[in-house]
Amino acid sequence: MSEYEDDGGISVEAGREHSPDGQPGAQHGGSPGETALRAEPDGIAGAPKETPVGARRKDRRGDRLRDGSGVSDVADTLGELAMSNGTQENNMPLGLDVGTSRIVVARSTDRAHESQYESQLNAFITLPYSKLAASLLEREGVFHEVYGDELVVTGNDAQRFAEVFHVETRRPMQRGVLNPKEPHSLRVLRGIITRLAGKAGGQNRKVFFSIPSPVGEDESAISYHEASITQILADLGFEGHPIREGLAVVFGEMSSSNFTGIGISCGSGLCNICLAVLSVPVFNFAIPKAGDFIDSQAAAVTGELATRMRVMKEMNFAVNGLGGDRVQNALTVYYDDVIHTLANSLRTTISSTQRLPKLDQSIPIVLSGGTALPKGFLKRFTTALRADDFPIKISEVRVAADPLNSTARGALMAALC
Ligand SMILES: Nc1ncnc2c1ncn2[C@@H]1O[C@H](COP(=O)(O)OP(=O)(O)OP(=O)(O)O)[C@@H](O)[C@H]1O
Ligand SMILES: [Mg+2]
Repeated sequence: MSEYEDDGGISVEAGREHSPDGQPGAQHGGSPGETALRAEPDGIAGAPKETPVGARRKDRRGDRLRDGSGVSDVADTLGELAMSNGTQENNMPLGLDVGTSRIVVARSTDRAHESQYESQLNAFITLPYSKLAASLLEREGVFHEVYGDELVVTGNDAQRFAEVFHVETRRPMQRGVLNPKEPHSLRVLRGIITRLAGKAGGQNRKVFFSIPSPVGEDESAISYHEASITQILADLGFEGHPIREGLAVVFGEMSSSNFTGIGISCGSGLCNICLAVLSVPVFNFAIPKAGDFIDSQAAAVTGELATRMRVMKEMNFAVNGLGGDRVQNALTVYYDDVIHTLANSLRTTISSTQRLPKLDQSIPIVLSGGTALPKGFLKRFTTALRADDFPIKISEVRVAADPLNSTARGALMAALC
């Protein structure tokens, strides 16, 4: 499904619409002679230290996926790198997407074009401690820890237990950074990162991890968040390097345009946006409307729980206008709000950017993240972009082949460059 139009302000080739179940679809090819540049590492150390926690279960229920992003020189390089380091797998860099809703680790495998992903929900629930409950959890292989008189079940298991006990999961992060209202935030985050990344097992093993961009000018919460993750990684023996989430999407999805284009991650707490030219970021920013906003607003107007809205949205929702039941309509209204805010803020930011690099060619926009999954998202976003003049020429707008893993993939790419 591809169209090309030129209606003055914006010329857009709308790419493939993504299937609602998040399965990879269309692929994009790479071009020879692409240049992989190094991401700017600017890690901060010195966060408060907490006792490291360990995963109790040994099995890693990872989702091993084949990247559907086509052939590229960078992927070739990565594959060769992976192969030459096959015997030193323990020292290979990692990509880590520290998301408000999910944490994803990306590893390169020993074959070209393949990455391996593993994810955990960035959530937890607490249960009152008892010896019996603790031993039952242990026996069932449930990922948990004991904090004083509480049993804390984290990651994917938290969702399962929340359903069993009819409670809401708690979240260590909010709007892309550590949740200031959650006393367990750092401990839980440390537990999940430890479980996914493991111990470095070698010197100077690099991890590029995603950080959000500021909403407006305030970077202070991001500095603390970034320092905290750097410290967690340092305690595991890793050398942590932050990468803005939008830039990670550029790294993960735009090898075919020499890492030039607009990468967008529509996540849970934020939509992160980056315009990069030859891998160098021109601007990064975020808007505070994404999946959580849709859930909470739709819940407020329907009298339902936000968690229920989330389940309905993830099950079979398509953004295709009003006319469904009241829940579908509420989700549609707030999805449209996100889409229009995103398109308008992108337009305004480009227009107000001074010394915008001279772009000889039109550039692509790639949408990723869980909020970009529903059918209709791409079409609505493309329509919103076309609604007014757009300051730069766009070659295509497409949804990433594997939207839930784009950020981790890009972080890994950056780490391997
Ligand atoms: N199939 C789906 N349809 C609609 N929404 C979905 C689907 N799957 C996941 N989501 C939504 O995507 C969001 C999570 O996406 P993602 O994992 O990209 O976010 P994140 O990286 O954790 O958050 P952020 O980047 O904002 O910190 C949630 O709001 C979730 O409800
Ligand atoms: Mg994200």
